Amino acid sequence: MTDRTEQGARWDLWAPHYDQDTAGQDHQPTAAGLADLAGPGPMLELGIGTGRIAFALAEWGVPVTGIDASPRMIARLEARAAQDPPRVAVRAVTGDMARFALGELFPLIYVSVSTIFLLTSQDDQVACFRSAAKHLRPDGHFVVEAAVPYASGLATERDQMIVREMSEDHLKWSAFLHDAATQTVRAQEIRIGTEEGFRMLPNLMRYAHPAELDLMAQLAGLRLERRTADWAGNPFTSTSTHHVSVYSHLPAEPALPTGAPA
Ligand SMILES: C[S@@+](CC[C@H](N)C(=O)[O-])C[C@H]1O[C@@H](n2cnc3c(N)ncnc32)[C@H](O)[C@@H]1O
Repeated sequence: MTDRTEQGARWDLWAPHYDQDTAGQDHQPTAAGLADLAGPGPMLELGIGTGRIAFALAEWGVPVTGIDASPRMIARLEARAAQDPPRVAVRAVTGDMARFALGELFPLIYVSVSTIFLLTSQDDQVACFRSAAKHLRPDGHFVVEAAVPYASGLATERDQMIVREMSEDHLKWSAFLHDAATQTVRAQEIRIGTEEGFRMLPNLMRYAHPAELDLMAQLAGLRLERRTADWAGNPFTSTSTHHVSVYSHLPAEPALPTGAPA
């Protein structure tokens, strides 16, 4: 199995639970921030999932194309679009956000909620920046929203276990194994209940610090235009737990005058 198909299989397991699990999260600030940057669009979302953010953007009149590794996450997106058709198109293709070729340029490409960390090697994350750069219009923006690894608690000094929910007939807990050498965190969420039975929901991430993401951008011919701590535009500081980073194409180097020393 390739990394993409392994991640796709993991997210197929999450697909029936994802919308309910994220129902309490307010994605309007994300959609509003992205719509501001993209104008009329269209936009490309990497790891679009069930379309949580894309459908909110469609409400603002911005069409969204997405790529996702999980056929079951995409099936949920398609079922929602069929049941409650959005104002403008929301469509998704199965694929790898590390390496893709859509034959189309976008004014805005985004990857939200630390989804870039689901590419589990540095090579794949660099490839993702390169693929995004190739699909960006000359004045386009690539937006990465992600956790700051240690400040957010994604990477901790020790392996840990967290009880998330507990009642008379239901228990949900998560275990994390952190490998600082590979910058990876392997997670397993266990759910047990009299109604739901027993479920294991695995996850694997490779985290990267903001500065490493900026270097990946440079390798792809992009530069950091601005970084904030959130979608409201609060300043990014040494205590920020998350960041919203906006990249654009590097300006072309001025040509050396003929005969000038290199
Ligand atoms: C945390 S969910 C985010 C979904 C959506 N962006 C949202 O905010 O609700 C991460 C998504 O990334 C997808 N994914 C993981 N690895 C991928 C890869 N290599 N290529 C494309 N999608 C991938 C998963 O299938 C999953 O749907």
